[in-house]
Amino acid sequence: MSSLGHLQVLVFLCALLFYSADSRKPQLLHDIGSEDGAKGTRWAVLVAGSKSYYNYRHQADICHAYQVLRKGGLKDENIIVFMYDDIAFNPENPRPGVIINKPDGGDVYEGVPKDYTGEAVNVKNFYNVILGNESGIRGGSGKVVKSGPNDDIFIYYADHGSPGLLSMPDGEDVHAKDFIKVLEKMHNLKRYRKMVIYVEACESGSIFEGILKTNLSIFAVTASNASENSYGIYCGGDYPSPPPEYHGVCLGDVFSVSWLEDSERHDMSKETLKQQYQVVKRRTGSDADPEMSSHVSYFGSEELLKDYLVSYIGTNPKNENFTSAGFTASPISTSSLVNTRDIPLLYLQSKIQISPIGSPEIQELQKKLFEEMNHRKQIDQNIIEILRLSLKQTNVLNLLTSTRTTGQPLVDDWDCFKTLVNSFKNHCVATMDYGLKYTGALANICNIGVDVKQTVSAIEQAYFIVRLKNQEKRRSRRSDKNLKDSLLSGELSDGRRRARDQNGVPRGHLAVYVGDEMQRFVIPTKYLQYPEFKVLMDEVADEFGYEHEGGIHIPCEESVFEEILIRYMSCDKKK
Ligand SMILES: *[C@@H]1O[C@H](CO)[C@@H](O)[C@H](O)[C@H]1NC(C)=O
Ligand SMILES: *[C@@H]1O[C@H](CO)[C@@H](O)[C@H](O)[C@H]1NC(C)=O
Ligand SMILES: *[C@@H]1O[C@H](CO)[C@@H](O)[C@H](O)[C@H]1NC(C)=O
Ligand SMILES: *[C@@H]1O[C@H](CO)[C@@H](O)[C@H](O)[C@H]1NC(C)=O
Repeated sequence: MSSLGHLQVLVFLCALLFYSADSRKPQLLHDIGSEDGAKGTRWAVLVAGSKSYYNYRHQADICHAYQVLRKGGLKDENIIVFMYDDIAFNPENPRPGVIINKPDGGDVYEGVPKDYTGEAVNVKNFYNVILGNESGIRGGSGKVVKSGPNDDIFIYYADHGSPGLLSMPDGEDVHAKDFIKVLEKMHNLKRYRKMVIYVEACESGSIFEGILKTNLSIFAVTASNASENSYGIYCGGDYPSPPPEYHGVCLGDVFSVSWLEDSERHDMSKETLKQQYQVVKRRTGSDADPEMSSHVSYFGSEELLKDYLVSYIGTNPKNENFTSAGFTASPISTSSLVNTRDIPLLYLQSKIQISPIGSPEIQELQKKLFEEMNHRKQIDQNIIEILRLSLKQTNVLNLLTSTRTTGQPLVDDWDCFKTLVNSFKNHCVATMDYGLKYTGALANICNIGVDVKQTVSAIEQAYFIVRLKNQEKRRSRRSDKNLKDSLLSGELSDGRRRARDQNGVPRGHLAVYVGDEMQRFVIPTKYLQYPEFKVLMDEVADEFGYEHEGGIHIPCEESVFEEILIRYMSCDKKK
């Protein structure tokens, strides 16, 4: 029962995807011999750009990468790690001091150099580290990439992203164009021989698409193309799920664990970037459901495809007899993927499920869930209003995501984009979790060529217009008998039947109407004294006042309401 409720509540569980691996044909391998090739040093920069326990997976991915590089032979002095470091000893971590990246996996936290933690994980430090600019560093260990023209650099970034952006735990985001400029500067200063960049994030393709030149000896692989989500893995629900004490978090991201699990098993002196790209693309994407999985993509200097991975990430000598020839694309036969933007909801929902009924925690969590859902709805309204106001047209739904085609950069005027993104963040309280998924719409506005100042004022206005509209909606529902009228006029699909049913309410019960669809529920009156209903009723009071002619209208999602009902019914049965 409760798992059914769970399904109903979380729309995104529709996104669950069973991924079946099919076996791959063995690939022809090049001769070993060529080994490293480079006489220089291998450098690596690992960045987890998020914080908070529900983002467990990013820091787990990064720590795991450190272990792979270390076993591969890179030295600590050449590996620079950015991680907020609030996971291992987080009070919610069921295994204090331990981070895992796989359900049955071991600790990946031990020994990780904490070069940049907490507030030192920021965009300025990131750029200065890769530029080797010691004087620009604030906080942290001060370690930078001191590389020269014979050195190879590997950068791995795991975090939230959105069109044109990668997130940082605090402050400014990484803007695609700025990042590319830093890379070009590194090229001009001859700070590397070759560079490989792996990025795990939603819309990560947009960081390079159309702007990373192919003549810089830089090869970038991204978890997703420029216009799609990336996915978390080992999230619970389906096999293989994390141990039960890891409620509501994902242990990894699918692109990340795919390259990591491939790299830690095989001889990297016999596997090329191209081979790994193919293995990882196959495991990350699903032919069966291309809409619900991401397309691993690459950008930049294609000549690096034939390089062996050992030049960048080393290789574990223990793997010398294991090649990826004949490697089954996925060592996991089935797995569930979760759209990373829905992970905060999954986290709250799963905490609600394990909290004792009637506890203060559950009220708090329920409230947070409502707030998050309402916030998302408002963000949706805001962006539509922004498009309408700035473009002076009403039909804007096709402009909500980037309209650029493959090969084109997200935006032509990146300064316009940055100004609009910052304004949107400030005025609409848009965060990476949800709101910034609309940066493609802002890019569209820049591409259409609307004046920047005019758009910034449209962003400010939109916020107030949406608030006013919502207030007006509440007022009209409160003040008149709209509700009853619409029920009686049969405007709603089966309003007539519902209205007549008014009389059929048994004693000790009452009828409530839930959600935008006004779904009718008849519930025992005694439920009203339970804490979760109290929270609901407070919501009702805030939004509409308690008095309604047509019955009580509860403004929450129907599915959330059902979830609560199911919990009480199963609780009643136990008594
Ligand atoms: C190093 O960082 C400082 C402070 O951010 C900056 O002023 C300077 O231009 C940087 N130097 C280089 C070579 O990037
Ligand atoms: C790379 O190619 C671009 C044109 O795509 C050219 O403008 C630039 O000068 C080239 N850079 C190098 C280092 O060759
Ligand atoms: C990018 O992803 C979208 C959504 O999954 C898909 O429809 C599109 O075909 C993909 N494009 C490329 C070039 O991979
Ligand atoms: C790999 O195989 C060779 C030949 O069978 C053997 O001598 C060597 O010890 C093996 N290496 C490892 C790490 O097992």
